[in-house]
Amino acid sequence: MPLGDFRNNHLGLKINWRRLEDRINALAEISPIDGGGNCRLALTDEDKDGRDLVVSWMRSLDLEVTIDVVGNIIGVWNVGSGAPVMSGSHIDTVRTGGRFDGCYGVLAALEVIESCKDANISPPRPLAVGIFTDEEGSRFAPDMLGSLVYVGGMPVEQALNVVAIDGARLGDELMRIGYSGPAPCPGVVPHAFVELHIEQGPMLEANDVRIGAVTSVQGISWQEVTVIGQSNHAGTTPMSLRHDPAYVAAEITVFLRKLASEFGGDQVCTVGKIDIHPNLTNVVPAKATLTLDVRNTDESLLKQAESRIAVFLTEIAAKEGVKITSRQLARFEPVIFDDEVINIVESIAKQQGNTVQRMPSGAGHDAQMLARICPSGMIFVPSVKGISHNPAEFTESIDLEAGANILLHTMLSLTTLDKSTT
Ligand code: GLV
Ligand code: MN
Ligand code: MN
Repeated sequence: MPLGDFRNNHLGLKINWRRLEDRINALAEISPIDGGGNCRLALTDEDKDGRDLVVSWMRSLDLEVTIDVVGNIIGVWNVGSGAPVMSGSHIDTVRTGGRFDGCYGVLAALEVIESCKDANISPPRPLAVGIFTDEEGSRFAPDMLGSLVYVGGMPVEQALNVVAIDGARLGDELMRIGYSGPAPCPGVVPHAFVELHIEQGPMLEANDVRIGAVTSVQGISWQEVTVIGQSNHAGTTPMSLRHDPAYVAAEITVFLRKLASEFGGDQVCTVGKIDIHPNLTNVVPAKATLTLDVRNTDESLLKQAESRIAVFLTEIAAKEGVKITSRQLARFEPVIFDDEVINIVESIAKQQGNTVQRMPSGAGHDAQMLARICPSGMIFVPSVKGISHNPAEFTESIDLEAGANILLHTMLSLTTLDKSTT
């Protein structure tokens, strides 16, 4: 049954774009940065302000709002019976984030519920919107931490003890901002989950296609590498006697770039963070700490990349006379989304007059965690010039509106998806 019976009675229903746009703009007014983006690192005061605003909108819609032990917020419209069809995403951002990454998906899900209420329609099961804690992983690793704990993929205690890049403990920050809730994790298993998100890459725009029916998410491997060398005087230490962590960090960065070129295909490698100590002009550094972000759609290639990196780290440590240690920050295998959810997204996008293509996701998303416990999928809309994790991130209103209307009808259709047990 590709399309749910319930949706077929409401084919003309549309979201209110003006209201959704106003909410996207209002949320972006919290913690703005130059260039039109936001800095709302997870569980900071800014994140709290964003949460408070969206929760106030949930409450004004009479949603039943629950906060769980890792701060995930779930707003449920208790209509019909059985497990909810859930949508949602995140409202934390990277330090130089755009206004759409995550926020669009959360606010569009809220808009879906409000549009249904306005139209006095009564879906056969509850509709829910989730705001998952720390999707970005920029402050607390791993990324998608909240949704990972929600689905039972990480013990609660372990999550609460994660230490941020600024030294804060996740559990303490949750208490501090008032988002350590009583609801248990793992959380309620949805009937189905669908997440609407900007693509954050260049494919839809390049192909002149409006909608991506997302088939999968590539595997992610994050590690933090620490290089300890010999700090010394920059003027007096002969080059041949140096054990220089900054030089080794540069070598590792170049190695990753070459590895990605050699592997080709979907392989991507990034060194996004390098800290040098003591970080002074005339001192050969004592220590470098850098993060490696390595991704591939193919798990066996991702494993090969990881082992090539491990070999390189051993070799360069011996060659340069430095000590290298590494700590895994995140490791998620590639995820394949549910066939029926993909089919529903694709058919609805076409029925509503959009061009659509099936595509994998390069970025990580909460939907990849929800896929562990229920039929899940995603809808992408284009990102202008493929730019994201940058305040210049932008998507045209016409595309944002189209995506939200597809989300509306996908959620309605999923209420009558008959593959789940609840
Ligand atoms: C999450 O935004 C990621 O890094 O893919
Ligand atoms: Mn996101
Ligand atoms: Mn992001």
